[in-house]
Order: sequence, then C-alpha cells, then structure tokens
Amino acid sequence: MNSIVRGIRFKVTDGEFRGAMRQLAGGVSVITAGRGEEISGMTVTSVASLAVDPPSLVVSINRASSSWPLLERYRSFGVSILKADQLAVAERFDGRNGLKGAARFAGAQWIQLASGVPLLKGALAAIDCEAEDIVERHSHALVIGRVLDLELSEPAAALAYWQSQYVALDRDEDAQKLAEVSVPAPPAARKR
Ligand SMILES: Cc1cc2nc3c(=O)[nH]c(=O)nc-3n(C[C@H](O)[C@H](O)[C@H](O)COP(=O)(O)O)c2cc1C
Repeated sequence: MNSIVRGIRFKVTDGEFRGAMRQLAGGVSVITAGRGEEISGMTVTSVASLAVDPPSLVVSINRASSSWPLLERYRSFGVSILKADQLAVAERFDGRNGLKGAARFAGAQWIQLASGVPLLKGALAAIDCEAEDIVERHSHALVIGRVLDLELSEPAAALAYWQSQYVALDRDEDAQKLAEVSVPAPPAARKR
C-alpha cells in the first residue's frame, strides 16, 4: 500500500519492501520474556549490537506478539543466538507451528542468569538483558537492552535466515567456498 507522510509520497509497496528485506541475511536468535510458567518467546533476526561501552543491543519486537506484554511488564529479556543445529528451536518459536507460550520451551534445556528470564542452554551466546529503553514505532517497538550477563559456547556453525529460508553459516565451509571463488588481485593493484 502506498502512503503519504508529511507530504512525501512513499511509492514502495509492502510486497516490494518485503522482497528487499528478504535479501538481507540475518543471524537467528530467540528472544525470551517472562518468569515461571508465564513465559513466551519468539524467533527474531532483528538483533543488532548497539554499543560495547556499556554493552548494549537493540531488537525490534512486534507489539502484537505474545512476548511483548511480558517484556514490558518485567522490563527484561533474553537473547539466545542459535547454532545451526538448533533449527528445531527456531521453528518452535517462529509462531508457524501453532505452539504458544511455555509449550514452545519444551524439548530444550533452559538456564537463568541475573534477571531470571529463560536462556537457551548451549546457544552460541545466551545474553541476559534489562530493557533500558523502549521506542514504540508503527507496529513494532525498538527495545534497547543493557547486557546484565552472558554465557558463550564454543564456536560452531550459526543459524541464519535468508531469502525466506533457514540456512547454516559454517565458517570452515564458507572460507573454503570463498577461497574457491576469489580471484587474485591484478599485479598493479597489489603494489599499492
Ligand atoms: C526468521 C524469522 C525472523 C523473525 N524476526 C522477527 C523480528 O525481528 N521481530 C519480530 O517482531 N518478529 C519476528 N519474526 C516473527 C516472530 O517470530 C513471530 O511473529 C512470533 O513468534 C509470533 O509470536 P506469538 O505467536 O507469540 O505472538 C520472525 C520470524 C521468522 C521466521
């Protein structure tokens, strides 16, 4: 749908924008919120680092999601950055298989760090955050998370999402493929 904001006509349709965003490969994480049996979570690709000092990140959360009221109430959330072999967890939390709330957490092990929010045991990184600031915009909220604590796993292939599909990012395999396709720079360029 085209829209007009402050006299500027935005000509990009929903479909065109979705098509553009599909080209953006994103690391897959699960955001978790709540305590005890009153928990929920969602698969996201919108986590990004905000700053190192203080350690903080940002994530975009749909305010119609079941995680949103829990995140707002407890003002804390978990970020579990998924390994490629944790695909089943991503699928449980992406809302497409009908599972809701605590039922999404079954079949995996969860730990708690400082805030008490569940974090996936064995995730590439499990990051415990306090919601430091929330900017509500359009259907979503940009949540700034101040990192309270984190746990890291040994390096492993990561789970990403690209062109509407989950894909594995494997450093060794990808380095091999890059080496196969990279063309050596011409001699003149190498001198500079
Ligand atoms: C790969 C992938 C990435 C997603 N990224 C986001 C995201 O960054 N923010 C968001 O609000 N929803 C995102 N979603 C959708 C949520 O996972 C989905 O709406 C949510 O699980 C629905 O939760 P609910 O049933 O608890 O309301 C993504 C879905 C997929 C499959």
